Amino acid sequence: MPAPIQLTPQWVQINPSSDLTLRGTVAVPGDKSISHRALMLGCLAQGTTTITGILPSADPQSTAQCLRDLGHEISPLTADPVLVQPGEWREPLQVLDCGNSGTTMRLLLGLLAGRAGQFFCLTGDDSLRGRPMQRVVTPLRQMGAEIWGRQGGTRAPLAVQGQVLKPIAYDSPIASAQVKSAILLAGLGCDGITQVREPAPSRDHTERMLRAFGADITWEHGTVTLQGGAVLRGQSVVVPGDMSSAAFWLVAGAITPGADILLTNVGVNPSRTGILEVLEAMGAQITCHNQRMVAGEPLADIRVQYSALEGVAVGGALIPRLIDEIPILTVAAAFAQGKTVIRDAAELRVKESDRLTAMATQLTRLGVMVEEHPDGLTIHGGSQSLMGTELQTYDDHRIAMALAIAALRAQGASRLAPAGCVQISYPQFWETLQQLCQNNPTPSDAV
Ligand code: S3P
Repeated sequence: MPAPIQLTPQWVQINPSSDLTLRGTVAVPGDKSISHRALMLGCLAQGTTTITGILPSADPQSTAQCLRDLGHEISPLTADPVLVQPGEWREPLQVLDCGNSGTTMRLLLGLLAGRAGQFFCLTGDDSLRGRPMQRVVTPLRQMGAEIWGRQGGTRAPLAVQGQVLKPIAYDSPIASAQVKSAILLAGLGCDGITQVREPAPSRDHTERMLRAFGADITWEHGTVTLQGGAVLRGQSVVVPGDMSSAAFWLVAGAITPGADILLTNVGVNPSRTGILEVLEAMGAQITCHNQRMVAGEPLADIRVQYSALEGVAVGGALIPRLIDEIPILTVAAAFAQGKTVIRDAAELRVKESDRLTAMATQLTRLGVMVEEHPDGLTIHGGSQSLMGTELQTYDDHRIAMALAIAALRAQGASRLAPAGCVQISYPQFWETLQQLCQNNPTPSDAV
């Protein structure tokens, strides 16, 4: 019998067996969104910031390196805690490389647009250079920012000539935490009140962390109000586990007979828990334990056990609350009885890959019936078994991890390539998958 997971630098092979199950306890890695923000606010504050539990994956590494290039001292992200010692903001002599990270580029644009007299160039990898930047460039230009780039300044590489900005009240056409955060970070240095209104609430980590660092910020009914000019003070930030990473194990546990997985220290900020609500509505057996607040963010341990699932309809204001979990949700849908319809999710077309086409194409290869819509997917689940095959990850971390979970429940081996992209958000993913496949005791005593 081959090992369940065979890993090479180019591809990973998943070799499922009929008696394979998933059991054990997983400390999911730190939240990616919170890790970026802790590094950035640490550099804006006076005094040292310590960050415990940061995610040391490629995306936060991109943010850390850009901030070092801008004059700040940050310990290697593998340290725990990571120390951020803010320095004088300097004009970098090199192009800032945001790698694969949309959060790095969009939030840095907000942070740098108001550094009057300094000039910055930002770029990223092939995927990031193809992603829309207009959504942050438009409001920042309304604040007085000078930004140039390809396609009218809406695609990287981008150049920013820092200006004195003026505050705005912005009605965002999309529910995007990156847009909201870029405007708030620009508003911090403005004289007066900056407001952002969104059509539906997106993740609020920036607001929570700005308040913890001493900013004068309030939010209610989808509107955030920030008074510019506050002096931020360095803090001790504790980063919770990432719900977006936990989601792979939540679905893996829900669809694998005999599975019993305990996920510890997972962030359960309500702006991120859409996936829990949808899986519960599908019939998943999920229980939350030890709910607590740590450094302004709610945390819990979450246990998932196998149970039969049923299809659901997902759309509207729920979408921003599970935006990064949709690829793995389509895998749950493939194993649920009946039809799952996902709508209002056109944003997925401009993520690290076009995630709607990616999941539709690859699930179809595995034998699932999927219909693609401009803004979503209909997945006809549960009727046939999946057959292992060659799978394309589009070099997108969340597509790779979602397909790995689907392949684990297929008949016959699947080979996924490229597989190194899990480094973007979850470097330990393959190792944790191997561990869960071993015949572990159930984690029942731990909760
Ligand atoms: C993020 C916000 C979301 C999410 C992304 C991380 C953030 O993007 O998809 O992975 O850290 O602010 P949008 O703001 O574009 O929806």
